[in-house]
Amino acid sequence: MQLLAVSALHVRLPSIHRTVHAVRNVSWSLNEGEILALVGESGCGKTMTAMAILGLLPDSAQVTGHCSWQGQQRSVRTSGTRDPLAAEHAAVIFQNPQTALNPFFTISQQMGDVALASGRVTRKSLPGVLVENLARVQLPDPSAVLKKYPHQLSGGQLQRVMIAMALVCRPQVLIADEPTTALDVIVQAEILELLRTLALEDGLAVLLITHDLGVVASLCDRVMVMYAGEIVEQGAVKEVLRSPAHPYTRKLLATVPDIDGSRTALEYIPGRVPDLSQPMHGCAFKERCAHRHGACDRVPIERVLKGGQSYRCHLNDPYEVTQP
Ligand SMILES: Nc1ncnc2c1ncn2[C@@H]1O[C@H](COP(=O)(O)OP(=O)(O)O)[C@@H](O)[C@H]1O
Ligand SMILES: [Mg+2]
Repeated sequence: MQLLAVSALHVRLPSIHRTVHAVRNVSWSLNEGEILALVGESGCGKTMTAMAILGLLPDSAQVTGHCSWQGQQRSVRTSGTRDPLAAEHAAVIFQNPQTALNPFFTISQQMGDVALASGRVTRKSLPGVLVENLARVQLPDPSAVLKKYPHQLSGGQLQRVMIAMALVCRPQVLIADEPTTALDVIVQAEILELLRTLALEDGLAVLLITHDLGVVASLCDRVMVMYAGEIVEQGAVKEVLRSPAHPYTRKLLATVPDIDGSRTALEYIPGRVPDLSQPMHGCAFKERCAHRHGACDRVPIERVLKGGQSYRCHLNDPYEVTQP
């Protein structure tokens, strides 16, 4: 079942001297129990995409587009107040749990505030609900955790607390913005495994923002590749990672070592992401693309391949050209 559909999302961030067009005409959807990855180089608009649909952008942001939460359609909010429909359906966790929690209050106080503010938990049922949600994120001895202050817990435990806090509002959609970047590798794997369990067993839909294609390969069902504010390719992980169609996706994959160690000479992508405050003429990736030709000065249309994989590029047959 489709839980969220986003269409024609644009985000512009004005400042004194320039306006950054951070998200450009982005459309995508998320299904129950699915883990959808949003990948791309830093600064390409991943966080802005998530914040816009949650209504969490600053007041100055200019946002247009539509979101449909379980069929309930509405315009994406421009103001900084959180969209009540989004708040009812979705919760978010961020990269750094240490900074998301207040050091002066216990976990119980902070989780309790979030639970009560959601309006879905009564004061009477609160202690039970908090313990239950800490147990759901597989934290041993939830009652002891509740009495602790943030500095008394490890980074991995804090991220579990953040997930429990997100779950307390009973969302159907969890947006996880680089949730494991600040954690070491072993803890990272445990947190990702937890997200998988929540998706599989509880039907939670997860939008996982990451720059780690290894994580995408091992955990996610579908993937969207973002470049300079646009989604340049999307599809099932199996298809996109095995046969990437967009030259940018191919380059991105070539920057990652193969799990079996077969690819040792890693590439980097020469050039840099275009300045998002300038108007874009044609394909956003053309300056860095080895397949650039005359047509690339025109905006590429979306091409759909077998299995629903789609990409925006002027190459007719992406498999015709060999990797340069
Ligand atoms: N408050 C802001 N004002 C102006 N530009 C911003 C602001 N926050 C982010 N940006 C710009 O918006 C673009 C997208 O940022 P972001 O969504 O955070 O990228 P990502 O999450 O993919 O790293 C970047 O070019 C960034 O510099
Ligand atoms: Mg980000």
